[in-house]
Amino acid sequence: MKGVLFDLDGVIADTSVYHFQAWRKLIKDHFNRELPNELEKQTKGVSRTDSLTAILNYLNIIVTEKEFQEMTEEKNIVFRELLTSLTPENILPGITALIAAFQAHNVKLSLASASLNGPFILTKLQLTNAFDAIVDPAQVAAGKPAPDIFLAAAKAINLNTRDCVGIEDSIAGIRAINRAGAFSVGVGSQSELGQAGLLFPQTSALNYQQIEQAWEKFS
Ligand code: G6P
Ligand code: MG
Repeated sequence: MKGVLFDLDGVIADTSVYHFQAWRKLIKDHFNRELPNELEKQTKGVSRTDSLTAILNYLNIIVTEKEFQEMTEEKNIVFRELLTSLTPENILPGITALIAAFQAHNVKLSLASASLNGPFILTKLQLTNAFDAIVDPAQVAAGKPAPDIFLAAAKAINLNTRDCVGIEDSIAGIRAINRAGAFSVGVGSQSELGQAGLLFPQTSALNYQQIEQAWEKFS
């Protein structure tokens, strides 16, 4: 194992809840409708526009292209407001130690987040320097569950995806890692992330040795 391709929201930081909170506010303000919890998993890991498409489909609402564009911008304003108070305390349990273990074993770190806010969030968490590469999702052709962002993340650290593990909390993300040919590590439930090569119930359970051993078997 030479590289780790990290998702951000819901793996490194507790920011995935803020995404859904922002969508909830937007939909309430525009249509006075509530979003059910079960919709959250469909918006995890997928781009801003794919998230809004999934939400509007679910609600059976059709908007013009202009309204759609305005809504994505408005959602981001709400999301960024929620991020203003972000500090290193928002790093999820176990992640600081896991990053240190990867670094101690000379495993390179590459960020494979679909969020255009990724670099901003890493700065707020004071984790920018921990990463050897950060992929710009705007430069990637197709979003998760397409493999593109994980292929780009491995390439950015000059590695073959077979030599990498990817860590994800979303269904779309696990599928993307598998398609990219890296070893997938999921954080979440078996019912959602059953396709992961190795699964941990929460970030605090993530363990370098277990990941390394599972990758050995996979490779
Ligand atoms: C992550 C989150 C998604 C979000 C996407 C785009 O993958 O899990 O919920 O839609 O990033 O984020 P952005 O900050 O660019 O709107
Ligand atoms: Mg995520």
